[in-house]
Amino acid sequence: MTPAIDTGHAPPLGPPAVPPSLPAAARARIDGDPLTQAFSERRSSHWFARRPRPVDDPAATWEAILRLPRAGKTVAYLHVPFCDTHCLFCGFYKNMARDRVSAPYTQALIRELDRDADAPAIRSGPVHAVYFGGGTPTALTAADLHAAITAARTRLPLAPDCEITIEGRVHGFDDDKVSACLEAGANRFSIGIQTFDTALRRRYGRQADRATAERFLADLKARDRAAVICDLIYGLPRQTLDTWREDVRTAIALELDGVDLYALTLVPHSPLVQAIDKGAVPPAASLGDQARLYGAGLDLLETAGWRHLSQAHWARTTRERNLYNQFVKEQASCLAFGAGAGGLLAGHRYRLDGDEAAYRERVAAGDKPLAGMFAPAPEPPAVAAVAASLESGRIAAGRLAAALGPDVTAQLDPLLDHWQAAGLLTPAPGGFALTTAGWFWQPNLISALIAAMRDRLDAGASPTLA
Ligand SMILES: C[S@@+](CC[C@H](N)C(=O)[O-])C[C@H]1O[C@@H](n2cnc3c(N)ncnc32)[C@H](O)[C@@H]1O
Ligand code: SF4
Repeated sequence: MTPAIDTGHAPPLGPPAVPPSLPAAARARIDGDPLTQAFSERRSSHWFARRPRPVDDPAATWEAILRLPRAGKTVAYLHVPFCDTHCLFCGFYKNMARDRVSAPYTQALIRELDRDADAPAIRSGPVHAVYFGGGTPTALTAADLHAAITAARTRLPLAPDCEITIEGRVHGFDDDKVSACLEAGANRFSIGIQTFDTALRRRYGRQADRATAERFLADLKARDRAAVICDLIYGLPRQTLDTWREDVRTAIALELDGVDLYALTLVPHSPLVQAIDKGAVPPAASLGDQARLYGAGLDLLETAGWRHLSQAHWARTTRERNLYNQFVKEQASCLAFGAGAGGLLAGHRYRLDGDEAAYRERVAAGDKPLAGMFAPAPEPPAVAAVAASLESGRIAAGRLAAALGPDVTAQLDPLLDHWQAAGLLTPAPGGFALTTAGWFWQPNLISALIAAMRDRLDAGASPTLA
């Protein structure tokens, strides 16, 4: 974006200097391999609340915001905090699934949905995506899955094309449960596979073997009534480039609608971290090796013609829309239900009681079981708009200028030029596109871009997009 000025001098040899004005977090290494070395650490999440401030009386604030009509795009999240087993790597595990907890928990979820169903904030606009996440929603019984999905469909004002996702795993998700979900209106399944490799699966607490996992996904797809997505994790101890390539090739060969490739996060105190600390399991992949695994997965999917929708997500078909994740990243309102769920309404972020028994008691008493709430953090919508654009792999110069105004946009040029020199961005029609390295480091780029936009806007420039 910097205009070339002919000074009459020969350009200096070697990589371009890093502009001294850039904050440390935005500086990428220029003289190394961009994919494996651009930054020394990778951010796990790119969005950070600006000056979060807890509200004093969450219950009273909740009743007040319920009376306000809702504005903007909206999704709903329903949490099911049960799993049949605790997988070694996972930080989402909360409670052991038992058939006897399925019904009381589902009744509490439905009662929570009922509580505010007629409030202006719930009724006043369409809900575009509903996500049943966990834990493992498919640990609920078939009857409870049907009841919970039906309740969400009847109590929330769903858009006619609403995406309704059920997150689940192969183990315990039998034909009756699949039928119950489909009959109740689910139209998307996100299935955690992590790896197809039977030996690795067993080590990490996954009970189904490769053949069972493949057959399960093929059968789900053969129903032809919902999008089928699978999650894979790269960087697990004992995983090799070959086993990883085989995992991605298997997802491609199954002709699923979409696939998520997640970098292993070492969750403090998880069974995996404890086993590595004791020396019982070898260390997880280094950051550089994670980058290589990601790059290999990206190459395979792009060669197979899959569309890259976001950092971790690819789609093969148009049936896969990935609406929930996209809207959440664009800071859409999120109506949250269930023990431990987190939401966003009228700019207020809130979390529900994560203790499942306490959650049920509070719902039974007629309360919204809030655990905490943060006041809106003032943020120009332009910031979310630009971050969302980079989320999809592009920086459209026109969108940047429309969102921020030409003055702020020009101040971002040194940053974008630097990332281009570092091999993270490449010129594309109308702006920039992420390179493979840029995709891997995308969370770093988005958080640095958000920080830079906030700085410039705080310094007095005003965005033109409200
Ligand atoms: C909330 S989990 C639920 C999935 C489902 N219960 C299962 O076991 O397949 C959603 C996804 O998070 C990912 N995940 C869980 N632990 C992770 C970790 N430590 N690092 C990276 N991804 C992880 C997995 O890919 C998983 O499918
Ligand atoms: S990966 Fe899924 S089943 Fe395993 S512990 Fe985590 S949420 Fe539960």
